[in-house]
Amino acid sequence: MADHSIQGKVALIAGGAKNLGALIARDLARQGARAVAVHYHSASAQADADATVAAIEAAGARAVALRGDLTTAGAVEKLFADTAAAVGRPDIAINTVGKVLKKPLAEISEAEYDEMAAVNSKSAFFFLKEAGRHVNDNGKICTLVTSLLGAFTPFYAAYAGAKAPVEHYTRAAAKEFGARGISVTAVGPGPMDTPFFYPAEGADAVAYHRTAAALSPFSRTGLTDIEDVVPFIRHLVSDGWWITGQTILINGGYTTK
Ligand SMILES: NC(=O)c1ccc[n+]([C@@H]2O[C@H](COP(=O)([O-])OP(=O)(O)OC[C@H]3O[C@@H](n4cnc5c(N)ncnc54)[C@H](OP(=O)(O)O)[C@@H]3O)[C@@H](O)[C@H]2O)c1
Repeated sequence: MADHSIQGKVALIAGGAKNLGALIARDLARQGARAVAVHYHSASAQADADATVAAIEAAGARAVALRGDLTTAGAVEKLFADTAAAVGRPDIAINTVGKVLKKPLAEISEAEYDEMAAVNSKSAFFFLKEAGRHVNDNGKICTLVTSLLGAFTPFYAAYAGAKAPVEHYTRAAAKEFGARGISVTAVGPGPMDTPFFYPAEGADAVAYHRTAAALSPFSRTGLTDIEDVVPFIRHLVSDGWWITGQTILINGGYTTK
């Protein structure tokens, strides 16, 4: 019988230095992962990567920080090869890479469109491809999308539109890798209280998103906390492996599909 626990497993977290990715990385170490590879992108995220590595080591796991721009197939291949060389082939691969753009469709430039496609869609495609090649049998793969996939809203055409194909990549990967016992899921959080969210939004939009009655049936802020999301990801990459091929929105009722 396959072992679906996190205990003793090797994990790779793309975008694992800060915010949601960092909390996932720390959580997996606390759950008994043997080693965690922490990918980061910007030079400015190196201090965050170092802090995340230190927290993982303090929890008793091995950790390594690996830097890269993951918008080329070659860079994603290198990330998986470097992970295997540093801490072993992953059992769990989680992709949190993303970038938001909030802008009227009629004002979006070709360069902005291309960047949204590269960061949100192409990187996820090649992450799934390389994860399928490198993750051990009975492994778990998860990639982050957005709750905007369940929304009927203006201004996120390039961002949400670039996350949308990932839903189908997830379905295909789940079918193709399933014979090896590998589960593949996509998780779409609601607007999360991280620095990712605020620069794209004006003060009015932030105030609106904080209005519980407008955005969530629960009597709390309409914003999702990263702590709300991590337990679901923990479950999907362990005992929740029977869920595969699906996109799950975790958002306090912000949008539904
Ligand atoms: N926060 C929200 O409101 C929200 C809501 C729904 C879904 N999400 C999704 O949740 C995920 C995590 O978001 P978060 O809030 O935790 O924010 P975050 O920390 O900014 O996560 C995004 C990550 O993607 C990395 N990245 C950007 N461009 C990259 C590139 N070219 N190559 C490799 N990595 C790159 C960023 O690194 P650098 O910062 O160093 O560039 C960052 O580590 C994202 O996929 C996002 O789309 C976020």
